[in-house]
Amino acid sequence: MNKHLVSIKDIKDREEAEKLFRLADDIRAEERKEALNPRYTSGYANALKRKQVASLFFEPSTRTRFSFESAVNKLGGDILTMSNASSSSTVKGESIEDTIRTIMGYADAIVMRHSEDDSVERAARVSDIPVINAGSGTKQHPTQALLDLYTVRQLKGQIDGLSIALLGDLKYGRTTHSLVELLSLYEKIKVFGCPLKGLEMPQQYMDFMGERGMEYTHCNSIEEIPSIVHALYSTRIQRERFEGKDFKDSDYCIDAKKLSRFSDNTLVMHPLPRNGELGTDIDNDPRAIYFKQAHNGVPVRQAVLLTLLDRGNA
Ligand code: NCD
Repeated sequence: MNKHLVSIKDIKDREEAEKLFRLADDIRAEERKEALNPRYTSGYANALKRKQVASLFFEPSTRTRFSFESAVNKLGGDILTMSNASSSSTVKGESIEDTIRTIMGYADAIVMRHSEDDSVERAARVSDIPVINAGSGTKQHPTQALLDLYTVRQLKGQIDGLSIALLGDLKYGRTTHSLVELLSLYEKIKVFGCPLKGLEMPQQYMDFMGERGMEYTHCNSIEEIPSIVHALYSTRIQRERFEGKDFKDSDYCIDAKKLSRFSDNTLVMHPLPRNGELGTDIDNDPRAIYFKQAHNGVPVRQAVLLTLLDRGNA
């Protein structure tokens, strides 16, 4: 894998993704052994001993930040944290490049989230230490895509042959963009796009799917999505990223009534946080796996940290 994880393109091929997934599986297995036997210590417990990871979030975050920080702690490393831009020198006009050059002297890796599309790329360009993208602008959220497909793989046994419907804000939501890119490493993928009108998937991703032989079908409403689809991937309207029309979450809400038409095997996924596009009346439905998805962020991010800090076999 590349030195940084800025975008899905840093994952060279399917085997590299699978290697991360297998490492995440092994980390979970070791932790289970530890939980069952108080005398047993996970082989990964000290893998990042004396390593410091800077957590640099210029945008709000609950899951991504907590799961990265939990991942570092579980590997025996230390977190240097700066929760928001208002406490950093960027408010004094410092450039991303200078902030990164500074942090390089304090940490062994940087986890960074920022509202601008090219922010993490700029950070990586000047950084001697690994930079991991925790969400940049509207384009990339590579560790989210990894945990999404890790969850699919865990529940379905494989990713090849997956049919997945993407719902909601396919224009500004970075998670579906990274997901489409990661899915392209696999075979026989079918994507059903069910965007809100005006929030369609940008042309570059449509072209990309075409070039990679992924089948894309547009659906005007949830009712048009085949009932046997393997996964419904709902997303929130990214209201912080654009002004204008007043879109209504209720127009594409997956609730118990809408879900009743789908197969018993259709997973309901969401990167979270949810607004009104996901009814709470499906939370106890075994097909609703969004919290499992969020929790899988920890082993997947542990695997990413270990791989980039070159301690995968510790
Ligand atoms: C997503 C993000 O930040 O892009 N959240 C997350 O990391 N789980 C999705 C969102 O904010 O809608």
